[in-house]
Amino acid sequence: MKDVTLHNGVKMPVIALGLWKNLIPTSVHKSVKAAIDAGYTHFDSAQIYKNERFLKTGLKKAGVNREDVFITTKIYNSNQPDGKFQPSLEKSLKNLGTDYVELLLLHFPVTETRARAWELMEEAYEEGKAKAIGVSNYTIRHLEELLAACKVKPMVNQVELHVFLQQPELVEYCQKNDIVVEAYSPIAHGKGLDNLVLKEIAEKHGKSPAQIMIRWCIEIGTVPLPKSTHADRIQQNIDVFDFKLDKDDMAKIAELEEGLRTCWDPSDVE
Ligand code: A2P
Repeated sequence: MKDVTLHNGVKMPVIALGLWKNLIPTSVHKSVKAAIDAGYTHFDSAQIYKNERFLKTGLKKAGVNREDVFITTKIYNSNQPDGKFQPSLEKSLKNLGTDYVELLLLHFPVTETRARAWELMEEAYEEGKAKAIGVSNYTIRHLEELLAACKVKPMVNQVELHVFLQQPELVEYCQKNDIVVEAYSPIAHGKGLDNLVLKEIAEKHGKSPAQIMIRWCIEIGTVPLPKSTHADRIQQNIDVFDFKLDKDDMAKIAELEEGLRTCWDPSDVE
């Protein structure tokens, strides 16, 4: 698996298996096993997904060594305040069966608590409980505020990003500031798999529309986190390194922008 290097030197595999909504233990175990077999080494969990424990068991059942995988979890909104943050992180580490995660994210820019929560993220980083730290669902405005105040710059911003929600200004801002963008819902929850433009590009490359959407995330320098509970799709979603989208493909995909949000919209969060 190819890597991207974060600004502190940590290497992050360029595709992860997303685990949101994967709630049934056996389903998580099977997805994780299928992912390991397909060559994934990067797994994206969160406190609110309530599947950290299942990820731990899935990795154990798949027989992988801890040091061979890259694990992300996220501090949920209600755990951002002092006094809640630390025990919630300890619980996540226990659930995951580890002393550290490769990447710890603040899940959402909660107005009242995010500034102090970032200081707690920095402490967790300094204590070695996270090899890298970052944020999720941050807009440029939230990042500007954070960059003006932080000791440790976030290494990652994980946001909803796909061909129907391209967010070029945010991607450019992050890249200028050495923040790697992770794209959640890179296939827009399966919306658009019938899109004629995507189908045409897919046919040209002998790939599926989902693979075109995932490859597009990579072409613009972001790290896609596709979710699936089916072994064949999990395998398909990582099979995107034997082709490239050309200028013509990229120009056609640029036209697909429609501001489609399938999840949280943080734009109005003060
Ligand atoms: P399933 O779990 O049944 O495979 P996103 O990551 O953009 O939120 O999309 C996730 C959704 O897309 C899930 O409903 C998943 O369903 C579906 N999906 C994932 N990979 C593929 C694929 N290669 N082809 C079609 N649908 C997919």
